Amino acid sequence: ADAATMNKIAIIGSGLIGKSWAMLFACSGYDVMLYDVISDQLQSALVDIEAQLSALYKEGLQRSSLTLAEVKGHICTTTILEECVTGAIYIQECVPENRDLKRDVWRQIDDVITPDDVVFATSTSAIVPSLLSDHLKKRHRFMVAHPANPPLLNPMVELVPTPWTEPAAVDRARALMEVIGQVPIVLNKEIDGFVQARIQAAIIHVAWQLVSEDYVDVESLETAMSEGLGGWYAFMGPFDVEHINADGFVDSSKKYGAMVEQVQKTFPKPELMQGPAAEKLTRDLEQWTPSNRLADRCRWRDRRMSALLQLKRKLDEE
Ligand code: NAI
Repeated sequence: ADAATMNKIAIIGSGLIGKSWAMLFACSGYDVMLYDVISDQLQSALVDIEAQLSALYKEGLQRSSLTLAEVKGHICTTTILEECVTGAIYIQECVPENRDLKRDVWRQIDDVITPDDVVFATSTSAIVPSLLSDHLKKRHRFMVAHPANPPLLNPMVELVPTPWTEPAAVDRARALMEVIGQVPIVLNKEIDGFVQARIQAAIIHVAWQLVSEDYVDVESLETAMSEGLGGWYAFMGPFDVEHINADGFVDSSKKYGAMVEQVQKTFPKPELMQGPAAEKLTRDLEQWTPSNRLADRCRWRDRRMSALLQLKRKLDEE
């Protein structure tokens, strides 16, 4: 392959996540080809990418030494799958979260001739990768590369291999993620929810009990996270927190382990979060984020997340 094609990234699906991947790769100088079945969607994706990039550049939050025009110049679009995939070194699929649809799209990609070391990555939030790739000829290149939303402000990417994924493919994906400034974590084997969504599910599980059974109001529950736990977890994980809270993790477990287990034993059975308790929760949440102001609240969150990211990068340099 010539130098130009060695730099090519294929993005399948130009929605929220496809656009984010396109920007991440283009900001690092990769040539991104964005594919969608709907050509109008591709046009509006380009408009939105420009708007998102402009906002980042205006606030000095761009993750690139390239100019905005240069970044844009690295993104092109197509409605022909074969054109998108041919010659790409890495393929990131971002079509809607539907197992049959994803399987079908990957079968089509699998039929295109691609280099032996190309990485096949899906953005799926929750489908274990073996269920999306058992039918593929090149399934040994397949894995999940799951970003955290919004990927431009949330560097972590979960790489989840199948039982048949070659370690070399994972290594390649990991290296590429590092080049574009994301922070990959690699699972040793697949599990429902991967890492991030499992932890999130555990948190919301106990939070739901606390609020729906009226132990605490929603505002206080949210405050416990934002003014309490969140302070640690923006910088370190749950085990490190315990490790330095005592004389090492074993000591911490000796001191507090039984208490933790006792609390865990009172966790309720999982249940769907719906019905009157969910409606009350919505009404309470609307007091500070009305339903017609959700986009504003997203911008509020994004401004804070980017400021925190910048602070963390600065602290890391010290
Ligand atoms: P989206 O609905 O915004 O975008 C999906 C795009 O795929 C649309 O542009 C649609 O036209 C296109 N599409 C539909 N069928 C297609 C096909 N056969 N070939 C090519 N393109 C097709 O969805 P979103 O939010 O971008 O999600 C994409 C994937 O990323 C899902 O698997 C989702 O679970 C995952 N994800 C989503 C996150 C989120 O917060 N929204 C976070 C991380 C992962």
